[in-house]
Amino acid sequence: MAEKILLTGGAGYIGSHTYVALIDAGYEVTILDNFTNANRSVVDRLEQLTGKPVSIAEADIRDATTLAGLFAEHQFDAVVHFAALKAVGESVERPLDYFDVNISGLINLLRVMDAAGCRRIVFSSSATVYGVPDETPTPETAEFRAMNPYGQTKISGEQILNQLVAADERWKVGILRYFNPAGAHDSALIGEDPRDIPNNLMPYIAKVAAGELAELQVFGDDYDTPDGTGVRDYIHVVDLAKGHVLSLAALLGEGQGHLVNLGTGEGHSVLEVVSAYKRASNRDVPYRITERRAGDVPVYVARADKAEEVLGFRTEHTLDQMCASSWKWITGPHSQEDPGPEGNA
Ligand code: NAD
Ligand code: UFG
Repeated sequence: MAEKILLTGGAGYIGSHTYVALIDAGYEVTILDNFTNANRSVVDRLEQLTGKPVSIAEADIRDATTLAGLFAEHQFDAVVHFAALKAVGESVERPLDYFDVNISGLINLLRVMDAAGCRRIVFSSSATVYGVPDETPTPETAEFRAMNPYGQTKISGEQILNQLVAADERWKVGILRYFNPAGAHDSALIGEDPRDIPNNLMPYIAKVAAGELAELQVFGDDYDTPDGTGVRDYIHVVDLAKGHVLSLAALLGEGQGHLVNLGTGEGHSVLEVVSAYKRASNRDVPYRITERRAGDVPVYVARADKAEEVLGFRTEHTLDQMCASSWKWITGPHSQEDPGPEGNA
C-alpha cells in the first residue's frame, strides 16, 4: 500500500512542486495549509497537473485539535514540513509572529506526531542558518549564525529536532538546508508569484522583464566577488522537490536521519542572473546599481557533495532553465490570478 504523507505548506511555492514529485513517486499525500501565503486556485492546478483529486485540509499548524484529527483519520507514515513564515524583513519587524508559527507551530506538530506514533519528518531549513559563513562553498559543519529572527527560527527548529532524536531514537529526521530556490514547473501551472513587490531576485527580475516593474536595483557592486555583485547558489525548484522525495525515502526505508545542504555547488552573481534572464525572456532587464542591502551576505554557495553521498541527490537543471521556466510561468495564464484577500501564489 502507498505510504501516507502529510505535506504542511503544500499549497506554497516549494510545497506545491514537492506535492507533484511525491504523487509521481507513488505516495498518498494530504496537504495542510492555511493559505496565508498561497492561492486557493493552486489546488485545481495541482489536480490538473497530477490528474488526481487533491486531499487538502485548510488548517493552521498551530491548531492541535485539527492536526490530531487528521492523524487519526489518515495514519500518516511521515510528514514533510514546509509551513512557515519566510520573509526576512518582516521577521525583523514582527519576530513574535515568526517564533509563533515557525517554532511553536513546529513543536505543536511534533507533539501531535508523537502522540500518533508518527516519528518521521523532513524539515525545511535554509542556508540562512550559516549567517555570514567563514567558508564557501559552505559545508554542513559550518557553525550556526543567526542574522535575523527568521534565521533564528530555522536554527531553533533544527536544534529542537536534534534534541528530540537524542531523547528518543524512534524519531527519524531529515533536515534540508535549501540555498536559493528559483524557477517553476515546466507546465507553467505552478510557480512563485509574490503579490507584493518581490524581495527575492528572480521574481523581481521576472516582473522587470514583463514590464510590470521599471528596473532592478542591484544591491551593491563592491563585494569581493568576480563582478562585485552578490553570489548565490540558485537551485531549480523541481530539483529541490526531488530532494524531498529522496529524503523521505531514506527516512521511510532504512530509517536514515540526515542533515544536508540542497544546492548545486555553483554560484551565480546578480549580473549573471540578469544576463541569463534576458536570454530566456528575450526582453530587456534594465538595472541600476544601488547601495548594499542591509544584512546581505556576499556569497552563499553550498558544498553539495554530502547530499549526493547520503541521498544520491544531484541537480539536473541549469540557471538558464530556471530563468526559462520562470518566464514561462510569469507569462502564463495562471500567474496573475487574483490572489484574494489573504494570499499570493
Ligand atoms: P511559501 O510561503 O510559498 O509556502 C509556505 C506555505 O505555508 C504557504 O502556502 C502558506 O500559506 C503556508 N503557511 C504559512 N503559515 C502557516 C500556518 N501557520 N499553518 C498552515 N500553513 C501555513 O514558502 P516557500 O518558499 O515554499 O517555503 C517553504 C519552506 O521552505 C518554508 O519553511 C521556508 O522557510 C523554507 N525555505 C524557503 C526558501 C525560499 O527562498 N523560498 C529558502 C530556504 C528555506
Ligand atoms: N538582489 C538584488 N536586487 C533585488 C533582490 C536581490 O540585487 O531586488 C540581490 C541580493 O543582494 C543578493 C541576491 O540578489 O545578492 C539574492 O537575493 P535574494 O533576496 O533573492 O536571496 P537571499 O539569498 O538574500 O535570501 C534568500 C531567502 C532567504 C534565505 C536565503 C538563503 O530570501 O530567506 O535565500 O537560503 F535565507
